[in-house]
Amino acid sequence: MVTELKIRQDGPLVVSGEDVALIDWNGNAYSVEKRPFALCRCGASQNKPFCDGAHSGAGFVAGEAAPTDKALP
Ligand code: FES
Repeated sequence: MVTELKIRQDGPLVVSGEDVALIDWNGNAYSVEKRPFALCRCGASQNKPFCDGAHSGAGFVAGEAAPTDKALP
């Protein structure tokens, strides 16, 4: 499976792929229990760096889509 980082509209970054390690600024790896996993980008999660769904209640809005002429085949 290809590693993929997908941006959810008004939500987290969803990481797919078995060969991805999540490393903190000290070089230590997080234990990732399940895949795919979602990373918070709204700042409201109580379980950072993971998304806990709090973006919905926080009213997080981020709907910037990639240019359509760069879409994957
Ligand atoms: S993106 Fe989901 S809690 Fe922040």
